[in-house]
Amino acid sequence: MTAKLSLFASGNGSNFEAIQQAIVEKRLDAYIAVLVTDQPDCYAVERARKHNIDIFAFSAKTYSSKETYETEIVKLLKDKGVELIVLAGYMRIVGNVLMETFPDRIINIHPSLLPAFPGLHAINQAYQYGVKVFGITIHHVDAGIDTGKIIEQDAFRIEGGETIEEVEEKIHQLEHKRYPETIQKIIHTTLCKKK
Ligand code: GAR
Repeated sequence: MTAKLSLFASGNGSNFEAIQQAIVEKRLDAYIAVLVTDQPDCYAVERARKHNIDIFAFSAKTYSSKETYETEIVKLLKDKGVELIVLAGYMRIVGNVLMETFPDRIINIHPSLLPAFPGLHAINQAYQYGVKVFGITIHHVDAGIDTGKIIEQDAFRIEGGETIEEVEEKIHQLEHKRYPETIQKIIHTTLCKKK
């Protein structure tokens, strides 16, 4: 099966790119039906344009509420037959409208070993704390910030003396490898069964 995905991003979009790359290289049986972003000028939008992927860019402050813009997103995703929402650096809390329409079908990636260091600047938080084992978490999305049942984690140990930039680079490499692999697993387990 070829699963229809919607990627949600707010920034650089390197995870979006890694997922698209995995699709092109046939490591991932999927298709990105639309990139949704709350930051119309972010680099993820440039990347989507380059790959001719549809974009829905919105500015939250032009809507009266989260429910209003999520209702518009839901209509679009339904029209496109989206089966799985993949948050990739989407820096907004997902609300009830999306969650009730796509129960268990929204996943997120976070650059720490949750439940440690949720929220913003997780890598910096962990680095300042002096942790020796860094990692990433892929999880289901619920109403909290970086909470929700864990699907996959991966980690590495630092020797000491690494700069934060070196740690960040390693974390992003891990994300770019594990996110497409995990989505592929979900497609061939959960999504296939529910079809
Ligand atoms: C990634 O490191 C992702 O784990 C993090 O944002 C970055 C997005 O990078 N997400 C969170 O912190 C979620 N709380 P990207 O735009 O280059 O994919």
